[in-house]
Amino acid sequence: MKAKAIAPTNIAIVKYWGKNPLWEKYHIPCKSSVSFTVSDLYTETVLEVERGSGSVEFELNGKKISKDEKEFEYVGKYIAKLNELVPETKNYDYYIKTKNNFPTAAGFASSASGFGAMARALQGVMKELEPKAYEKYFSDDSKLSVFARLGSGSATRSIPEKGGLVIWHRGIPMDYPFGPDEVSNETKEKVIFSSYAESLFPHDYWPELRIIYVSVKKSEKKVKSRAGMKMTLKTNPIYRYWVEYEESTLLKEVINAVRKKDFGKLVELTIKLSNGLHAMMLYTMPRIVYMNDTSHQVIERILELNESEPKASYTFDAGPNAVVFTLDKYEEEVVSVLSEVVGKQNIVVTKPGKGSRLVE
Ligand code: DP6
Repeated sequence: MKAKAIAPTNIAIVKYWGKNPLWEKYHIPCKSSVSFTVSDLYTETVLEVERGSGSVEFELNGKKISKDEKEFEYVGKYIAKLNELVPETKNYDYYIKTKNNFPTAAGFASSASGFGAMARALQGVMKELEPKAYEKYFSDDSKLSVFARLGSGSATRSIPEKGGLVIWHRGIPMDYPFGPDEVSNETKEKVIFSSYAESLFPHDYWPELRIIYVSVKKSEKKVKSRAGMKMTLKTNPIYRYWVEYEESTLLKEVINAVRKKDFGKLVELTIKLSNGLHAMMLYTMPRIVYMNDTSHQVIERILELNESEPKASYTFDAGPNAVVFTLDKYEEEVVSVLSEVVGKQNIVVTKPGKGSRLVE
């Protein structure tokens, strides 16, 4: 049995940074987050499943990855968690072939689209092979987003097929007192499925919006986001206040700004939220720095552009690349300014897009 799926990447405005300490294994976040699903940058995955005993073979961008390579680690762990939650999935062997339509080396996140496509392809095969398990676990996008999350947190937001502005609900509160081994299986399942994604406004809600990927040359060795967020939780004394402030105030403001298509407000919030994330990283011990001089040049140029009126905003994740939001009427001007910093060949202009889907 074979299924083919694609899943886009997504860019967060309200960021995910930190897993619920007792539920870390299942990637339950401390805070809800909000992103735009991105058109044009995606992963395509072909999943072939045969009766067997749980062996896994993995091919990435045409290259077979052996079990001892680092790219295999997340995939191996993913299948193990899948087997734990859905015992029926143990009776099969898995052949996973996946490729990104963007250069992985450019440093654009691929774990979100990668595990998004994996979960969607899994839905395709489970429907045919295990109809009962399909009904229980894979039959709608909110449940499916949980299976993407087990691979990588940000993948949760790449699932909803309507795409556009997507919220990933945190589920249980950050200080939920029990861990997975202290509750019944039924409660454990409820907790795991309490955190899921849904589309708030579909991909074509705000057609004038543009999302510009700006690839910046890496200059420093990077801390993996998984390890980085763990350090932040452990050592940042104001982490909890950041979580509370963003959830109670900024998250709602972002949703309202998009609802009203208030670009000025969206610019202000996107910048503030990106700055806030990187401030939390700086407050971590030892400090985590992802942005480099070029990233700061991008920021300066965008702030200059905005002196007369809000024309663009920037956001940064766990790397030096910028993602810039603008409107179609400013696109040319913004691209020209960004080209002066990084060169036109390092810029990709796209827009909000649809979420993951089966293609065969
Ligand atoms: C900085 O999803 O890569 O991009 O759940 O450990 O796989 P894991 O982490 P990952 O975290 C990326 C976080 C971020 C912000 C965001 O996308 O919200």
